[in-house]
Amino acid sequence: TQATSRSFVILGGTGDLSGRLLLPGVAELVDAGLLEGVDVLAVSQEDWSDGEYRDWARDRLAEHAGHVPEASRERVVERLGYRHGDVTLSADLRSALARVEGAPVVYLALPNTVFLPTLEALTEVGLPDGAVVAVEKPFGRNLADARRLNAVLHRLLPEESIFRTDHFLGMQTVLNILGLRFANRVFEPLWNATHIERVDIVFDETIGLEGRAGYYDTAGALKDMLQNHLLQMLAVVAMEPPAAVDARSLAARKADVLRAVRPPEDMQRDTVRGRYTAGAVRGRPLPDYAAEDGVEPDRGTETYAEYTVGIDNWRWAGVPFRLRSGKALGADRHEIVLRFKPVPHMAFGGEAPEPDVLRLRLDPDGIALEINLNGAGDPFEIERRSLDIALPPTRLSAYGLLLKEMLDGNAALSISDVEAEESWRIVEPILAAWQAGDVPLREYPAGSDGPTRHP
Ligand code: BG6
Repeated sequence: TQATSRSFVILGGTGDLSGRLLLPGVAELVDAGLLEGVDVLAVSQEDWSDGEYRDWARDRLAEHAGHVPEASRERVVERLGYRHGDVTLSADLRSALARVEGAPVVYLALPNTVFLPTLEALTEVGLPDGAVVAVEKPFGRNLADARRLNAVLHRLLPEESIFRTDHFLGMQTVLNILGLRFANRVFEPLWNATHIERVDIVFDETIGLEGRAGYYDTAGALKDMLQNHLLQMLAVVAMEPPAAVDARSLAARKADVLRAVRPPEDMQRDTVRGRYTAGAVRGRPLPDYAAEDGVEPDRGTETYAEYTVGIDNWRWAGVPFRLRSGKALGADRHEIVLRFKPVPHMAFGGEAPEPDVLRLRLDPDGIALEINLNGAGDPFEIERRSLDIALPPTRLSAYGLLLKEMLDGNAALSISDVEAEESWRIVEPILAAWQAGDVPLREYPAGSDGPTRHP
């Protein structure tokens, strides 16, 4: 990979995302020798000087990029500039952008309520050819919002220069689905409804709210995880083979399969909505979600969401895909589980053994294929074994990789316009049913397995 050089403009550069993930991502790239002379300009509301911003950034990097040597972090700090301004005002954006050379990557590290006015202000200013815009999630609050955002984005730049960030697309295991499926002969012939019984996409977290009430209490698990990250994983698992691993083919194949996803028909049966109460996660006490600072209990925000959908196409007809994610659960379980159908005949007699299971684990990354073999003691007894690979951590974090792709102008690891809208189409009926109170908010104690069992 070649080193990249271009400016990076972070709108909302004093926010949590910048300090926690974006600046550390830049530091990783500098440290890996993948960035040559990238200038970073942060724009935000604080009335700070360049020096004050650098001090803030140095502290954030020490806190969140401890894995990057200090010398590399300092090289990032030296290249930081700061501009005080209101990102929804075109005059402020114009004077900030006048400070950068060439075609920058402009990253909206902002609350999603200001995406639209910010993008509108950007269209008034205009961006040079070759510029890139990155937008965080959630991409609007509903389908109508997503359409509006897409319309403004398309006025600003061509689709291939737009990144709707989903950092899960930068995770090793999600990328490995592509390698596993399309760089091997053995899996793809079995990757369909003839052989697969069900698919579970699970992202159970032990962490609680972590002081994010301002954002999380208005989002909830469904919008935070299942509208984007988990549906993107579904798309990569279930899509047809792309002709090439590039932005166009991936966007087209992911969009196809998302279009075929049928929202749950029976909301009570096919969706689960939960909220944690006080408890302990691995000995660490967690307060009741509803009692956390900044939470409005009456909003009924869920900290656990689950839904099961079907995919109406030849490959997947009849196979349930269950997506689940929650906070304050007893264990960090991040995995995609493909459960195969049982053998058609059990020549060994007795009960059919557990069907084969393929587990694609995230963080720590690994792949396990659980199969049945002859027993070591009694060769006529069938025993469960696992072909299990633990993968070493990647050099770049998911954000580091995505930033590199943005700076290179390669949108392969982005959510496309159609995918963003389709994802809302799938989730909106669930949101509507939940808001109407059709599905009860089930409580689960922090540290438990949640309102339903893990597969
Ligand atoms: C974020 C969500 O997008 O993804 C968080 O907002 C969640 O709530 C996080 O914890 C999970 O991703 P990671 O990279 O922290 O495992």
